[in-house]
Amino acid sequence: MAIERTLSIIKPDAVAKNVIGEIISRFEKAGLCIAALKMMKLTRQQAEAFYGVHRDKPFFDDLVEYMISGPVVVQVLEGENAIAKNRELMGATNPKEAAPGTIRADFADSIDANAVHGSDSPETAAQEIAFFFKDDEIFPRFD
Ligand code: PPS
Repeated sequence: MAIERTLSIIKPDAVAKNVIGEIISRFEKAGLCIAALKMMKLTRQQAEAFYGVHRDKPFFDDLVEYMISGPVVVQVLEGENAIAKNRELMGATNPKEAAPGTIRADFADSIDANAVHGSDSPETAAQEIAFFFKDDEIFPRFD
């Protein structure tokens, strides 16, 4: 199985709930490694650009407001099958539909404030990682 990288964001609602460590611990226990990490407050311009693909969706303005409402923790996760593994750990977008034991089932309040983001394909992972991190800010954990 190939080693992959994916972008993970711990969103403002989860940071406010003080569960950063619990969420990162789930990644590590599942065999994913943190290859890069930073805490930051997104600007409106960054949030609009990051979610640009959803610009025409009815929830776009609310999504941007929410994502700039407080600090987030942005990470590169590295490991076998990292993209799918992260999405499995996250659970469904709507926490009401998320499987028991997933991050969203345990920590998310609603589809609008759903605790975490994870890249959905190798192409978006590469774009999203480059959006937040320079090459020299990422530390390979598997050689
Ligand atoms: S879609 O509509 O199928 O493209 O949605 P999806 O790719 O699953 O996720 C869209 C991102 O927007 C966030 N968001 C919402 N999605 C759907 N409905 C509502 N009301 C909504 N509000 C916010 C959702 O959490 C996804 O964010 P990320 O960070 O990509 O998981």
